[in-house]
Order: sequence, then C-alpha cells, then structure tokens
Amino acid sequence: MMRRLAMLLGLAALGAQAPATAQDGATIYKRCAACHLADGAGVPGAFPPLKADVRALAATAAGRRYLALVVIRGVSGPITVAGKVYRGTMPAQAGLNDTQVAAVLNHVVRGSNAKAFTAKEIAGYRVGGASLSPAAVAKLQPGAAGK
Ligand code: HEC
Repeated sequence: MMRRLAMLLGLAALGAQAPATAQDGATIYKRCAACHLADGAGVPGAFPPLKADVRALAATAAGRRYLALVVIRGVSGPITVAGKVYRGTMPAQAGLNDTQVAAVLNHVVRGSNAKAFTAKEIAGYRVGGASLSPAAVAKLQPGAAGK
C-alpha cells in the first residue's frame, strides 16, 4: 500500500515538469552548438544558421510546429534556410522533454517578438507528429516545395 502510494507520487512528480528558465535554454543549446555553432551562425552548406529564418518561423503557427518537430523528430531536407538549400540530416534530439524543447527554442529565438514556447504547446506538437520521419518534417517547413 505504502509502496504503491510512493510510486503514484513519483509518477505525479514526473508529470509536473518545472518551468524551464532562460539559463536552462542556454545550457541545453550547448548540444545544438556542436553543429549550429555557439552563436547560431551555422556552417553554410552543412549546418543552417539559426537566425532570422528561425525567428520568422516562430511567428507563425505552422512554423512553430515545424521548429518543435525538427528538434523532437529530426529533419532531413531538402530545406531552404537563408536562401541556401540544405540536403543534410539533423538527428532527433532524443532525451529532451517538452519543457526542455520549449526552453531551447526560446533560447534560439530570444530577442524576437515571437511569443514564448510553452511545454504544453510542445506536448501537442509531439503527440501530433509522433509518426513523422525526418523527411516528413522537412516538408512541414513553411515555404518548402509542395507546401
Ligand atoms: C549533429 C548536428 C546537429 C545538431 C546536434 C543539431 N542540429 Fe539542427 N540541424 C542540423 C542539420 C544538418 C540541419 C539541416 C538538415 C537538412 O539539411 O535537412 C539542421 C536544421 C535545424 C533547424 C531548421 C532550420 C530552418 O530554418 O528550417 C532547426 C530549427 C534546428 N536545426 C535546430 C536545432 C536545435 C535547437 C538543436 C539542439 C537542440 C539542434 N538543431 C541540434 C544539424 C544539427
């Protein structure tokens, strides 16, 4: 009885994710910086910049969904970023919960007017995109061919 109660309490604690802080976003971004570089400038032709295009995407509903699923599911282009075509693959960033995905995206778009990503918003995209391949995520980029 006590053990079952303790387990239920433990599950409740897991479900209630504490809101992530800006500091968390910067810390999580370190894993992104391996490819996109610390300042988000990227490497033209290999790793796209996380700059103006990403900020513009964060201002639209379709763009926000795409950004979240890039992180959760990965992306395999062709995608166009800052006028350049990328035909690479970004692996899904496994191990990030909804709060952490929101925090890292808020870090990436900091300074823009986009409203903040929330864990609840990310959770919805995660459920809706659970079966998408990285190639399918690429097709969700607003402005991508066929959209
Ligand atoms: C192993 C290298 C690697 C890591 C780590 C990585 N990315 Fe990427 N990312 C890529 C590549 C490569 C692409 C382009 C994929 C393509 O060509 O389709 C990309 C594309 C993107 C895009 C799409 C940009 C656009 O304008 O459409 C976003 C957003 C993004 N990454 C964010 C992140 C974030 C946030 C993290 C960390 C949580 C991260 N990436 C970690 C390699 C990486």
